[in-house]
Amino acid sequence: MRIAITEETALTEMERSDAPAFLKYCNDRDIYRTTLRIPLPYTEKDAQSFLDFVAETTEKNGRPVNLAIRHAGGELIGCIGLGEHVVGTSHRAEMGYWIARPFWGRGIATAAVAAMCGYAFGELKLAKLTGHVFSFNPASSRVLEKNGFELEGRLRRHYLKDGEFIDALAYGRLNG
Ligand SMILES: CC(C)(COP(=O)(O)OP(=O)(O)OC[C@H]1O[C@@H](n2cnc3c(N)ncnc32)[C@H](O)[C@@H]1OP(=O)(O)O)[C@@H](O)C(=O)NCCC(=O)NCCS
Repeated sequence: MRIAITEETALTEMERSDAPAFLKYCNDRDIYRTTLRIPLPYTEKDAQSFLDFVAETTEKNGRPVNLAIRHAGGELIGCIGLGEHVVGTSHRAEMGYWIARPFWGRGIATAAVAAMCGYAFGELKLAKLTGHVFSFNPASSRVLEKNGFELEGRLRRHYLKDGEFIDALAYGRLNG
């Protein structure tokens, strides 16, 4: 599977050989602070357990729902996916994503979300996609808004991370 998203990037399946890219790019405080499931420091064990998780979700679904954002040179420079979603068990899914810092500001997340919407609404036939953004992450809000997601509400103290409550902005986009 390969979905071109920008001139220099595409969505493809994740591979075991992507582990070094996770170590290189996920040891980043700004990725840690705006996400829920990416630890810091990020170790080889973390990369392997995430790749195990991705393989399990692919097997359960018979197709990938968590994808690599891959540079033309082949390197993984981010991820986008529907997490634990199993097709057929719900009409909606929550989307998550991150982009490696050297590639920020080039429209890659916006293009990746657009492609994932096409895949989730078209191939997977979901009725709704959601995205929860920490209230202090305007870049991610912007990525969703540029893709037609609407702000449905502010979920107060919805997450607790490192002893601090975090408000989440709940975004949603409907299929059609
Ligand atoms: C958020 C993230 C995915 C954005 O990736 P990206 O590829 O740089 O995003 P894009 O280039 O497609 O778009 C970013 C948009 O946010 C805007 N933006 C960036 N910083 C901003 C800020 N501080 N305030 C407001 N807007 C901001 C950019 O100007 C751009 O909008 P524009 O096209 O209208 O100018 C990336 O920074 C990242 O991985 N962050 C850490 C992990 C994360 O936050 N994941 C999402 C969890 S919900």
